[in-house]
Amino acid sequence: MADQDSISARISPNCPPETQRILTAAWAHDADSVRKLIDGPGQASCQDPQTGETPFHAAIRSCGPPSEDDTPEDLEAARKTVYELLLWGAIWNDVDDHNETPGCVAHRLRRPELYGLCVDAGVRAELLFGVLDGYEELGSEGEYEDEEMENGEAAAEEDGDEAPQLVSVGENGQDNAAEVEGEEEEEAEEPTFQPPKPEDPDVKSEIYLRSKLTYSDGKLVDDAGNGVMMAWETEIMRQSVDALLPSKEAGKRVLNIGFGMGIIDTMFAETKPSRHHIIEAHAEVLEHISSPDSKFGSSWESAGPEPGAFKVYQGKWQEVCLQLLEEGQVYDAIYFDTFGEDYSQLRKFFTEFIPGLLDSDGIFGFFNGLGADRQICYDVYTKVSEMHLADAGLDVEWKDIDVDMKALAEAGKGDWEGVKRRYWTLETYRLPICTFLG
Ligand SMILES: C[S@@+](CC[C@H](N)C(=O)[O-])C[C@H]1O[C@@H](n2cnc3c(N)ncnc32)[C@H](O)[C@@H]1O
Repeated sequence: MADQDSISARISPNCPPETQRILTAAWAHDADSVRKLIDGPGQASCQDPQTGETPFHAAIRSCGPPSEDDTPEDLEAARKTVYELLLWGAIWNDVDDHNETPGCVAHRLRRPELYGLCVDAGVRAELLFGVLDGYEELGSEGEYEDEEMENGEAAAEEDGDEAPQLVSVGENGQDNAAEVEGEEEEEAEEPTFQPPKPEDPDVKSEIYLRSKLTYSDGKLVDDAGNGVMMAWETEIMRQSVDALLPSKEAGKRVLNIGFGMGIIDTMFAETKPSRHHIIEAHAEVLEHISSPDSKFGSSWESAGPEPGAFKVYQGKWQEVCLQLLEEGQVYDAIYFDTFGEDYSQLRKFFTEFIPGLLDSDGIFGFFNGLGADRQICYDVYTKVSEMHLADAGLDVEWKDIDVDMKALAEAGKGDWEGVKRRYWTLETYRLPICTFLG
């Protein structure tokens, strides 16, 4: 990547002069010039039409990897430039033609201080989107099948990845780069950098719940080839059960939302709970549960210590949980792992339902796969969810778990064979263990 990180590779000959000046000033960490040059909306996130370089990328990329020649002043100048850009509305998750956000560049170049600024900018943006009631799509489980940017697509395909998941949304919700560069393209007919479009709402809950599913070879996939659940997650499920039921005592009350392949329910069942409730909404998963060779069919339900103690609730958790609240059900351990839903639903669950459903000494956990196709998104969502959990009166402890990436390293290969999108790319899973504050 070294040559590709040079200024000549990043600021193309086609770059409009105004953009070129801003990029060059950002590259040189000349914060004063950056401030003077940025005097209109969107300019802090202008992009080279060919490389997608933004001033935010440039300010980070020009630092290169740490070297003996670095001085504290260099770093300070870089920080100052980044601050300046953020002040003027630079966007944390704009991607370039190598499918990298500024944070991805900082991470790759091992620049933790600058990476931290990118994460903080992402957290601020996501909290704001949350207040405005619309989260940006941050990858995780979903499908992207829009038109793909020419250059980015090529770069992504080289390493087997699909098109990037991130979207670049300006304050007004517009696609920023297109807005800034579009007019010039019409006049000059220059190639225009096309950032990826927002994730197609294909795998939204209702569509997913109507999709055809296939259970095969250690995975559950929908008819679009999205991995709903995969056997490689077994260790995560194991450690989640251990975290939710640390005493390993029998007789606990357990609620699991999202049956999938029944991996975690099998583990919960082995702990001999006194109550084991499962909520599942997909008709084909429910059919699978009631099939003769299922461990969770009617004979399991009737084997509970009392009527209704072991039960599969059919329907969406959004409705079933209201019923559970009405019934006064309370649990020692609650796990949440659905599919096709965005972060707003997870937040809704722990804000509106956990306070009523979880025993005061109980433990809540969820599958933490948000933004897991990109380290910076994962880190942003760790912080965002931690803040929202605290708002909901919950403390969260994160337990790091190594993920064996051998069979997960390449899209379409190994465990990803037959699965459309590599929704997990990280070596460390952050397992959340949530308890009531105080
Ligand atoms: C990722 S899988 C769960 C995997 C599970 N943890 C395991 O160990 O096999 C997600 C499950 O949530 C279900 N689901 C999705 N949306 C739901 C909803 N709104 N209510 C209840 N279940 C839902 C899906 O049908 C799917 O079975």
